[in-house]
Amino acid sequence: MIVGCGSSKLSKILYDLGHRRITNVDIDEGIIEDMKRKYEEEAPEMSWVTCDITKAKESLEEDESFDLILDKGTLDALLCADGVTDGYMEILRLLRVGGVFSVISFRPAELIAQFLRVPELPVEVEIKTLETGSSTRKASMFLLRKISALPWVDRDEVRSYQNDVIKVS
Ligand SMILES: C[S@@+](CC[C@H](N)C(=O)[O-])C[C@H]1O[C@@H](n2cnc3c(N)ncnc32)[C@H](O)[C@@H]1O
Repeated sequence: MIVGCGSSKLSKILYDLGHRRITNVDIDEGIIEDMKRKYEEEAPEMSWVTCDITKAKESLEEDESFDLILDKGTLDALLCADGVTDGYMEILRLLRVGGVFSVISFRPAELIAQFLRVPELPVEVEIKTLETGSSTRKASMFLLRKISALPWVDRDEVRSYQNDVIKVS
């Protein structure tokens, strides 16, 4: 799944490399309709879903249905909006045990790492620095692995932990 796919070519590039079963998700219905129309002939096996990831249960019901969830810039956008914890928890719900949530972010690496590493959650997070070709704009990639099934957690406690991380940044 690509969360917050926007009009990026990433999914088409992955499709052409042979990764056919890609679900592209974005909150913007106009973008999803445009992308569906653009790629329906060239990449017919890809699917396109209008979905607010913070309320993903409404359109993506099945738990643990994705091996890999890719994000480029969407977590960064959600950090400035309400519901970032709900979006994060929905991504973890949708991820299979052993699956990876890969995040590309332009925010400070330590902030994102701390945000993802919620103490009560079964996740391991690896950080990689990316070359952007710019000396001022640094990007990092985070590989979060879900190492076991999600235990019951109080979402308000997760929200409070993550809000504190965001606030002190
Ligand atoms: C910074 S853009 C990145 C787009 C694309 N990933 C790229 O690399 O060009 C963030 C995208 O996230 C989408 N988005 C924002 N909030 C969202 C949400 N709650 N659920 C799903 N998508 C969301 C926006 O519509 C936008 O397309």
